Amino acid sequence: MLVASNISKAYADRTLFREIDVSVSAGDRVALIGANGSGKTTLLDILAGETLADGGTISGRRNTTVGYLKQEPPPFAGKSLLREVLEANGDAVELSDRITETRHALSSAGCEREQHELMDRLSVLELGLEAVGGEDRDYEAKAILSGLGFKETDFARDMSEFSGGWVMRAELARLLFRQPDVLLLDEPTNHLDLEANLWFEKYLASFQGGVMITSHDRAFLNQVANRVLAIEPGEAVHHRGNYDDYLVARERALEIKEAAAARQEREIQRQMRFVERFRYKATKARQVQSRIKQLEKMEIIELPRATRKVRYSFPEPARSGSDIITLTGIGKSYGDNAVYRDLNLALERGDRVALVGPNGAGKSTLLKILAGVLPVDVGERKLGFNVATTYYAQHVLDLLNPGNTAIDELRAAAPAESEQNLRTTLGGFLFSGDDILKPISVLSGGEKARVALAKMLSQPSNFLLMDEPTNHLDIASREILADALGDYKGSICLITHDRTLIRQVANKIIEIDGGRARVFPGDYDNYLYRKQQESAEAPQVANPDDTQTAPSKNGSGGRKSRRTLTPEQEQQRALTRQARKLAERIDEIGVAISDREAKSAELESLFANPDQFNDRNQLEATGERYRVLKEEEQSLWDEWERLSEEAEDIDRILVGLKTD
Ligand SMILES: Nc1ncnc2c1ncn2[C@@H]1O[C@H](COP(=O)(O)OP(=O)(O)OP(=O)(O)O)[C@@H](O)[C@H]1O
Ligand SMILES: [Mg+2]
Repeated sequence: MLVASNISKAYADRTLFREIDVSVSAGDRVALIGANGSGKTTLLDILAGETLADGGTISGRRNTTVGYLKQEPPPFAGKSLLREVLEANGDAVELSDRITETRHALSSAGCEREQHELMDRLSVLELGLEAVGGEDRDYEAKAILSGLGFKETDFARDMSEFSGGWVMRAELARLLFRQPDVLLLDEPTNHLDLEANLWFEKYLASFQGGVMITSHDRAFLNQVANRVLAIEPGEAVHHRGNYDDYLVARERALEIKEAAAARQEREIQRQMRFVERFRYKATKARQVQSRIKQLEKMEIIELPRATRKVRYSFPEPARSGSDIITLTGIGKSYGDNAVYRDLNLALERGDRVALVGPNGAGKSTLLKILAGVLPVDVGERKLGFNVATTYYAQHVLDLLNPGNTAIDELRAAAPAESEQNLRTTLGGFLFSGDDILKPISVLSGGEKARVALAKMLSQPSNFLLMDEPTNHLDIASREILADALGDYKGSICLITHDRTLIRQVANKIIEIDGGRARVFPGDYDNYLYRKQQESAEAPQVANPDDTQTAPSKNGSGGRKSRRTLTPEQEQQRALTRQARKLAERIDEIGVAISDREAKSAELESLFANPDQFNDRNQLEATGERYRVLKEEEQSLWDEWERLSEEAEDIDRILVGLKTD
């Protein structure tokens, strides 16, 4: 359907891809993956005909309709939501408008001939309308809008009333309604909540055409994709199967590639030594020249870039009073939807809060109220002494000035910082060399998000409020964000579906449900544990055999002679036992690792002096032994790591039990 061959693209000295082939046919669900800035959006732009490739051809575009959802939503205004969606299917709207006109003309037609003519025209138009989806189209547009989370009452609202995330959903609805042959979707799930996401997955499953989709959401990609196109440094990898299959295959391919790269490196070293040694020997001049040529021609095997970890520190924020913020008697409704009534909440200095709860419960609303960017209907919001807030949500990307460079943006946020510090901060967010001088307008989605985050963290505020800060970020960038938030000295309140981030950052969980905010001091695992306890305690159908472990409710539980432990005590005992066993095994592994390390170090010193070996066989046998030792060492380390994690988990639960 859509076939691109030999596509190449470079910006300045940076090659994004070289001579790659891409095709999307009906039934294909291609996951387009790669790190932030690897060129995913650029490739979609090229396929959609919005950017020119440096080389290559694209065929099939003439008789294939392509719908392209861009990573950043276009502005709309002036029409209602429903109208905007319906118009995406231009023919139907035009036909429908002409039918209305003709009916109108018919009602005022004078002579019979004119009436006949109009009737004929009307039936042609109606047939046409039926052919493009007929009167069902309203119904269908509404079904798509509802699936994506819009309410009936939204349909007639003007597009300008919707915020960024909803504009994106509207744009997605337009595309789906058009039913193109090929859908190109650039991070469509960033703006969807869980329900909309599930609906969308189902929709894609029954979609007849071909789809190419980017996302940093692994679970989603696994659900939808049946093919993978990965943009890796120096190559594009095609894979049949879902994302997890691909990761496994990639792991294997990477091992092979690493071995090849190591071999190549050794070969280069060997050639270089030859060149160095005989460079000035006239008799060898020709060989030296030919080896230099060979070296120049060699295609260097590129390995995926490892994350560059850079140390940097954020400005120490001014110390605030011990009360950060107090909400008293807050009420907030949208129309007749009352999200909060009489909400009371107080946060203290040092709180690192994660807001959790079902979708649509009002987490973002609460965050905005806390940030002071959303007026409340009733109640009081009182900011503590010397508290300065910074609010981060999706729309901050729009607040970056497209003409500025990354460093300009940072300078504007923190004018007091030295140029060097600003550069180091950007370095910490993976910007290096020329990257910091690029205008914001050409940065990729993830790169923009990183500028916005760096900017936010450079501001001398002491209370950060963040709504889904990991959107657009690949795994490496997420780790950087987690580290940065870990180092941040002020207070934090955040919403994220990324549980790893919650685990790394939060020391307090606030659950929003049914207009209420419940505070759980402690980290996320503690919260999960409490919830689990709660559901266990919830009334269940009585089981007559349960009297031994269940604490007696009516005094009859103590019949057995053995002193009954409470379920908590039972659990504590079992866990303590397990923790002790694990600790013993971890110690054993530690000893075994040192043993292997000492032995392999001995062999290494032998290799440094190969003359000590009597013959080749001995050398090879020793090499084999060394390899086995290293393998053992590795698998011991793996086990050590696994068990240590297990032990940590148990410790966490035990601490949770004790604080109960
Ligand atoms: N006009 C341009 N001039 C210079 N560099 C550009 C230009 N347009 C894009 N780039 C660079 O090309 C790279 C690829 O950008 P692209 O938007 O395709 O990445 P992406 O894979 O979609 O990343 P993300 O996951 O962050 O969305 C980025 O480093 C970007 O800064
Ligand atoms: Mg992109």
